[in-house]
Amino acid sequence: MSAPPVLEARRLVRAFRQGRREVRALDGVDFRLEPGEFAAVVGPSGSGKSTLLHLLGALDVPTEGEVLFEGRSLHAMSDDERARLRRTQIGFVFQFFQLFPTLSALENVEVPLLLDGLSPPRARERARALLDRVGLSERGGHRPEELAGGERQRVAIARALAPDPRVLLADEPTGNLDRENGARVLDLLGDLSRGEGRAVLLVTHDERGAARAGRTVRLLDGRVSAAPEP
Ligand SMILES: Nc1ncnc2c1ncn2[C@@H]1O[C@H](COP(=O)(O)OP(=O)(O)O)[C@@H](O)[C@H]1O
Ligand SMILES: [Mg+2]
Repeated sequence: MSAPPVLEARRLVRAFRQGRREVRALDGVDFRLEPGEFAAVVGPSGSGKSTLLHLLGALDVPTEGEVLFEGRSLHAMSDDERARLRRTQIGFVFQFFQLFPTLSALENVEVPLLLDGLSPPRARERARALLDRVGLSERGGHRPEELAGGERQRVAIARALAPDPRVLLADEPTGNLDRENGARVLDLLGDLSRGEGRAVLLVTHDERGAARAGRTVRLLDGRVSAAPEP
């Protein structure tokens, strides 16, 4: 029997109230992310990309439908189980990096490892290896403000990798980077899926970025668009 998808969305609906209006950010989305796959979700601003990513990452709860992680419904898990899943199996990468500004790059990567119970020397050793993995072994002592945007995003990726998650969810990770640094981040995300068997989901409004993924899903007004590839 083949492995279940890492993540699966079934008939996902997420409605928000905006004043007296109800906005359906997602309106019946089906989606599967297979182990080791690099997939992209593209769509214009407001199409529901971030909402989908938050639901897949157990950061938010659907109005209707369900999300399954490796075949298990998030809905059926206890709050503790969901929190553990989020902490250990899912890595998040955001457009604005979300690094701790007063900590060095190395310390930023260490935080999740220390929270996970690693001893300080082992956390340091693993954080160094992770910074090395993203090509920043020389930059560990610098605080985020001393790093270029592309470097900050690579620190954020190293931190997301710290617990060795099964899946990386990246929301517009190149949105704040110039073309060259953006390309480097996308190359890294591609390597992290292909070489290392980790699923990567890239969410972006940038078609160029999405072109590097193995598969692209289009969202429009909260629905998967059936439009053929141009
Ligand atoms: N917390 C929220 N409260 C109200 N409306 C929201 C909220 N989050 C998203 N929306 C609405 O849902 C739609 C999709 O938003 P979003 O998922 O952020 O789109 P995208 O990431 O593709 O730009 C938008 O119309 C947005 O205004
Ligand atoms: Mg968004």
